[in-house]
Amino acid sequence: MQLPAREDRPVLVLDLGGQYSQLIARRVRECRVYSELVGHGITPDAVRARNPYALVLSGGPASVYSHDAPRVDPALFELGIPTLGICYGAQLMALELGGRVDRTGVSEFGRTSMEATESRLLADTPPEQTVWMSHRDTVVAAPKGARVVASSPATPVAAFEAPERGLYGVQFHPEVVHTPHGMDVLKNFLYRAAEAPPSWTPAAVIEEQVARIRAQVGRERVLCALSGGVDSAVAALLVHKAVGEQLTCVFVDHGLLRQDEAEQVVETFGEHFHVPLVHVEAQERFLELLDGVEEPEDKRKIIGREFIRVFEEEARKLGDVRWLVQGTLYSDVIESGGTEGVAATIKSHHNVGGLPEDMKMRLVEPLRLLFKDEVRRVGEELGMPERMVWRQPFPGPGLAIRIIGAVTAERLEILRLADAVLQEEVRRAGLYGELWQSFAVLPAVRSVGVQGDERTYGYPIVIRAVTSDDAMTADWARLPYDLVETISARIVNEIPGVNRVVLDVTSKPPATIEWE
Ligand code: XMP
Repeated sequence: MQLPAREDRPVLVLDLGGQYSQLIARRVRECRVYSELVGHGITPDAVRARNPYALVLSGGPASVYSHDAPRVDPALFELGIPTLGICYGAQLMALELGGRVDRTGVSEFGRTSMEATESRLLADTPPEQTVWMSHRDTVVAAPKGARVVASSPATPVAAFEAPERGLYGVQFHPEVVHTPHGMDVLKNFLYRAAEAPPSWTPAAVIEEQVARIRAQVGRERVLCALSGGVDSAVAALLVHKAVGEQLTCVFVDHGLLRQDEAEQVVETFGEHFHVPLVHVEAQERFLELLDGVEEPEDKRKIIGREFIRVFEEEARKLGDVRWLVQGTLYSDVIESGGTEGVAATIKSHHNVGGLPEDMKMRLVEPLRLLFKDEVRRVGEELGMPERMVWRQPFPGPGLAIRIIGAVTAERLEILRLADAVLQEEVRRAGLYGELWQSFAVLPAVRSVGVQGDERTYGYPIVIRAVTSDDAMTADWARLPYDLVETISARIVNEIPGVNRVVLDVTSKPPATIEWE
């Protein structure tokens, strides 16, 4: 029998178009309560069917008075489900439930000082506290029967509540870090108002996924492609925990990985976790195909195509395998499904390593409910080495798109050594975890240098390090000069053929993170 799923009773976050909707869902989960993002058009029947602990109405950019402003079905407020409105969500509640929203003509943006009174929502938080505001319209009268429990100079109703009816609203954003007591407010809502237990833990996720995977695949065989990255690794370990030797992992080593990465995969999976592992050493094949190829997109296509070819060959050798593991994440699910009926309408086009669609295998997607940080915590809980769990993102085409121009064995070796020095020093400086990515790039130019008494004509190495939240934008990292100095000195001293090190000081936009 399948265990009752922890997500049987979610907190549903209704997306009203705000930039923080996804963040709200993540914050709820950080409070260890399972949450899902759903479209604001969700019907009362659909909500009832999920039996949620609570509803959260997100913020949104619209004015409640504009004709195309997103609305929710007001019948949702009659379901007896505790509901928290945030910013636009709170305004919508006020409007629908007998309060009043005005265009005061004063917008409030940024850190604001707020006065709070004794209440359920703001329990155990200071009477005067800083909150993050970002709004134009404002609630001037709380919903009928609700009590105003906080206000700021520009916002008379910064928070309201009607505990007997389960209605709560905040004009500020508890989900952003600029609201120091925001998590306390969310916890008060979740634990005290909605009585949702904090049971969404990595251990619970594992237990639940293991049961699901077992029920899904039965006695059939499962195949998983490992890329060296954290997603495919955690997905594979979950499936292995569930069905043991029914799983075979295929690790295609295209020779474009960083120093020691391939060995680490083989050691971790083959030797430590005893996962049946096929290690395909395809370095030569990829190098031959990349011979003389200079265009970045050509490189990507060639590598992607060959990866599939090698993977298919191996799959065929394994015989009758019905299931394929994919490391689809919840953020992929949200992006491909939009916000309407999210979880139900996913297309599985997010392939680990770009796997073929015509393989006639059914998909096992043990991560599709998880955000990236949750995947990492599950990985830790499963005993995965720290280096793998906290690995910075690394592109599928690997070092090939960090060597500008043609990829050769010689240039690969230079870049790999330079990158290893950089990684080692960034880790030693304790900065690895703070950086979104840090890596070396090998441009297609050479310059003159002098080493010893000799004139050299060698390659430069570029140091690229960025901070980012999601890779959509990135800022160049202000690495300490001492660290840059150490990296530079070591690279030119230790790596033959390199006589210069430069630092990339460009953000994204206008540059991209990668050089190709
Ligand atoms: P850019 O260079 O576009 O990169 O700012 C954004 C993020 O995407 C990664 N990236 C890739 N990942 N295959 C991948 O799997 C690719 O072809 C690819 N190109 C860029 C990049 O490392 C960064 O995290």
